[in-house]
Amino acid sequence: MSANVFLEAVAKRRSHYALDKKEIVSRDRIEEIINQAVVNAPSAMNAQSSRVVVLFGAQHDRLWNIVQDTLKKIVPDMDFKRTKEKLDSFKAGYGTVLFYEDTRVIRKQEEDFALYKDNFVPWAHQGNGILQFIIWTALESEGLGASIQHYNPLIDEEVAEAFGIHKDYKLLGQLVFGNPVSEPGEKTTLPLSERVTVIR
Ligand SMILES: Cc1cc2nc3c(=O)[nH]c(=O)nc-3n(C[C@H](O)[C@H](O)[C@H](O)COP(=O)(O)O)c2cc1C
Repeated sequence: MSANVFLEAVAKRRSHYALDKKEIVSRDRIEEIINQAVVNAPSAMNAQSSRVVVLFGAQHDRLWNIVQDTLKKIVPDMDFKRTKEKLDSFKAGYGTVLFYEDTRVIRKQEEDFALYKDNFVPWAHQGNGILQFIIWTALESEGLGASIQHYNPLIDEEVAEAFGIHKDYKLLGQLVFGNPVSEPGEKTTLPLSERVTVIR
């Protein structure tokens, strides 16, 4: 495969916020993509501490109801309409991938390699971010739209209870996906000269 094929997929990945529930990619195919991403994603010292929980259909709706109930208790009434509209747009999709880190694996690394103790949490987050990116990009390559959301830690307890998540798993992000019903918004990019230095 030429790098161009990969880079095309990278360029195609955007934050899609307008989604509907038309299942344009089968659940089996999505599961296959996620499995391959999890197997092949790199991790610090190959610790493989990332965990994913995939919610489809009614379970996806259940997650976004939990987010809504949680925020209703916190967001002032006058602002809640806007919050609800936003949350409804996520619920309008047909699936969510929950990204976790198994903190037991990270703690073990900290014990085993005391010299690098301070690195394992950031490395775990970096590894999780790489996995998020692979899954996000792969789903969009199949024609799905997705966006990454962060309602953790507000929703952690309720979500753990609802879906039987291990108490040592730490929630890091929620990737919502569905059938994209409009193009993503404009995106500006900084000049490359500000961001890339090449020293030959
Ligand atoms: C680490 C990280 C955290 C993000 N958190 C959120 C978020 O909580 N909600 C959201 O709507 N988008 C979130 N985004 C998406 C960014 O806003 C988005 O990627 C950026 O504006 C560029 O747009 P694009 O994704 O269409 O390329 C996040 C992206 C990254 C990499």
